[in-house]
Amino acid sequence: MTLSGKQIVVGVAGGIAAYKAVELVRELGRRGASVRVVMTQAATRFVGAVTFTGITGRPPVIDLWDPAYAGEVHVELASWAHAIVVAPATANVLARSAAGMADDALLATVLCAACPVLYAPAMFHRMWGSASTARNVTQLRADGAHFVGPVSGALANGEIGMGRLAEPSDIADALDALLAPSLDLEGRTVLVSAGPTHEDLDPVRFLGNKSSGKMGFALAERAAARGARVCLVAGPVALPTPAGVERVDVRSAREMDAALEARFDDADVLVMSAAVADYRPETTSAEKLKKAEDREALVLRLVQNPDILAALGARRGERRRPLLVGFALETQDLLANARAKLAKKRADLIVANHAMDGLGTDENVATLVSAEGEEALGRLTKRALADAILDRVVARLAQP
Ligand SMILES: Cc1cc2nc3c(=O)[nH]c(=O)nc-3n(C[C@H](O)[C@H](O)[C@H](O)COP(=O)(O)O)c2cc1C
Repeated sequence: MTLSGKQIVVGVAGGIAAYKAVELVRELGRRGASVRVVMTQAATRFVGAVTFTGITGRPPVIDLWDPAYAGEVHVELASWAHAIVVAPATANVLARSAAGMADDALLATVLCAACPVLYAPAMFHRMWGSASTARNVTQLRADGAHFVGPVSGALANGEIGMGRLAEPSDIADALDALLAPSLDLEGRTVLVSAGPTHEDLDPVRFLGNKSSGKMGFALAERAAARGARVCLVAGPVALPTPAGVERVDVRSAREMDAALEARFDDADVLVMSAAVADYRPETTSAEKLKKAEDREALVLRLVQNPDILAALGARRGERRRPLLVGFALETQDLLANARAKLAKKRADLIVANHAMDGLGTDENVATLVSAEGEEALGRLTKRALADAILDRVVARLAQP
């Protein structure tokens, strides 16, 4: 499932739930979609157009006759869209759509659609239960439209019933499913490393780092969903294994190195998202280290771990496969460090992100750095970022 890079028109009609369209637009943006909004006149009574201008960067289309639009704005909007979602869809919009009417910007855009149209109805339960609304929904389904919700729950007046707008995240999931990408990694083998490494000091203590593993797990999940055979080499994290993914659990940098080395030659792509410890304790005590009363400070001697990505980059030599994708997590000079890493490790792509942005969270702000240049992606969910990275991988794999 992905909305990364997708162009979505959100049609907002005049119901109480129009305020939730704001959250939907934000959610679509978080998932990597570009969003344009079209509102009915009635919708503008429920939610301010300027709110959508603020979160999409451009004013919503409201008036079909606005002289500011050069040409036919409904044709332009519908041609731009990979999908149109009407949320909330009022009883009135469903009726007008079912009748094929085009008497405002939203309806005209829907009628011009060459892409999937998804309605998220919201209304009082007797409106939803009326024979005419049921007829209109049946007609729209027969015409090829899709529906998400409504759901049962508390309605605007406090009554409980069927007619509540589906949650914005569920609407976004439904769009995701509608726009599921092709299996563009089918036949490919993707090796992903994820999480931290733990370097043991003694049987109960270790040196670790704050990596949660979420980015690597998102990459493995998305690569598998896109058809790849995926092996996920995971440091110590408690995340569930994504469906269809082979998981190899490791603990230390050296274990991770061995697991990746063993699988490297069979892979088409290695995505190295693990936060591998640069150093490990020179010795690991077999017994628990004791506090000595007469010793104020304890000095740990550390030795360097293998640089896995650099070693695999060198091993690949002049070959073009496996593709190598690395991550650069920095606290300063982010892009300069990422560019240096690209060259030093002989990687094809470095995903550069600032330590303050992504550690442990579900979102990240990343810039993709390659020999061709830099591409800032803005704030995305890790899942959307995973898809954006895999989009670049697919494009590179297609090159001879
Ligand atoms: C306070 C208020 C709340 C309304 N809420 C809804 C609603 O939740 N769902 C709905 O279908 N219509 C609702 N309506 C009726 C629509 O606003 C009305 O049918 C309007 O013509 C819809 O225009 P549109 O479909 O072009 O946006 C509401 C009306 C008012 C005054």
